[in-house]
Amino acid sequence: MAEAKKSWEERLAGEPDELTVDFVESLSIDKRLYKYDIVGSIAHAQMLAEQKLISKEEFKAIREGLIEISEEIAAGRFKLEKKYEDIHMAIEAALVAKIGQAGKKLHTGRSRNDQVTTDVRLWMRDRIELLQAKITLLQKAFVKLAGKYAEDIMPGYTHLQRAQPIVIASYLLSFVEQFERDFIRLKNCHRLLNISPLGSGAVAGSTLPLDRKSTAKQLGFSDISYNSIDAVSDRDFCAEFIFDCALIATHLSRLAEDWIIYSSGEFGFVRIDDAYCTSSSMMPQKRNPDLLELIRAKTGRVYGSLVAMLTILKGQPSGYNRDMQEDKVHIFAASDTVEACLDVARAIVSHAKFNTKKISAELEEGFLDATALVEYLVGKGVAFREAHGIVGSLVAYCEQQNKKLAGLSLEELQKYSVSIETDVYENLGAAGVADKYITAGSAGPKQAKEQIAYWNKQLGQR
Ligand code: ARG
Repeated sequence: MAEAKKSWEERLAGEPDELTVDFVESLSIDKRLYKYDIVGSIAHAQMLAEQKLISKEEFKAIREGLIEISEEIAAGRFKLEKKYEDIHMAIEAALVAKIGQAGKKLHTGRSRNDQVTTDVRLWMRDRIELLQAKITLLQKAFVKLAGKYAEDIMPGYTHLQRAQPIVIASYLLSFVEQFERDFIRLKNCHRLLNISPLGSGAVAGSTLPLDRKSTAKQLGFSDISYNSIDAVSDRDFCAEFIFDCALIATHLSRLAEDWIIYSSGEFGFVRIDDAYCTSSSMMPQKRNPDLLELIRAKTGRVYGSLVAMLTILKGQPSGYNRDMQEDKVHIFAASDTVEACLDVARAIVSHAKFNTKKISAELEEGFLDATALVEYLVGKGVAFREAHGIVGSLVAYCEQQNKKLAGLSLEELQKYSVSIETDVYENLGAAGVADKYITAGSAGPKQAKEQIAYWNKQLGQR
């Protein structure tokens, strides 16, 4: 027996082609919005009752029906049928089937266009909180690890060439700073998206006396949107959210790249715990950092989502277009990918060990103390540019002689500058230099300890 037509199909002749049903459906993707859809619908129905657009009894029936549906979906007892296109229609159809006439009033003064963007905003608020919590856990893992290496020196790199000595703690804390910016960016994203589009209808609002402030308040939005055309077509917050995810992925990818290099035989700086390594199907000796490589690679997906989202938006005429439906594919993918990567990164960081023996045994390679020697000369009244040239020549001399700066005699040193005195040796040797850093935010042990104390306090409050 042919089923009765759905109200939005009355306009069209015959049944939709199977191809159409498959192609337009988003239920397979947006079913995860169900809780938000139900919460949004209850708020809308309550407002309709407050405005006497439906009766109190109808509201009660709607609310109870929706709660039951929510429980059925949660328990996996709800049949999601793609003929309903999306989660909004599937829930509404189930409500009508459950409570009859009152269910048919739920969509009064509403369009899926304002409904869907309301749902997405509600979902994103929760999602941001989840990602922020995961960022905080990762930051805490870094701070804890930094606490173990607040005195241990490693080479700091520029251009991946040995540059200046730094404490391992400062290196680790550099990631805490990056993730802190990610945390703040998400907070800003939350603040901007937290306005209610509900009541904007399809594009022009409604002739019914809807109380938009009531639904906004019920749903915890800080304000309502002020232009219905913009409200149904604004997906800036989606692009912004994915961008925030993309930067998190970037930071994770740079960490991954560092540790892939640092855990290599050539470097041997860091040991990734066996639980987070894989081996080779052929070479029995291998301990591979595959998880880090996958974190690095998955960044590509998130960037892909960002470009996709921006591209979805750029060509659309004003108002809602079905293109918008594709936003969810990308916000979900970006968010899920970053969430998983944050979990894995936290596990790896929490179990990582630095090989301080190996690092310090090689610390005097690569003239890490050269810049400190320049600054020593500056302290003796030599102009910086001259001092820079003097030390450059000294390094070239050392390379020829196969010596270290600290291994030169005073006589050899003074051949390059008469300003060099016996106290120079206090400033040579990479291991001692980091103690001498005095500028705020330097990579020395003193500053690292201050930062650890700061972060412990800061993150402890989250
Ligand atoms: N599934 C759609 C979306 O995700 C809901 C809105 C559909 N609106 C419409 N007028 N066809 O955007």
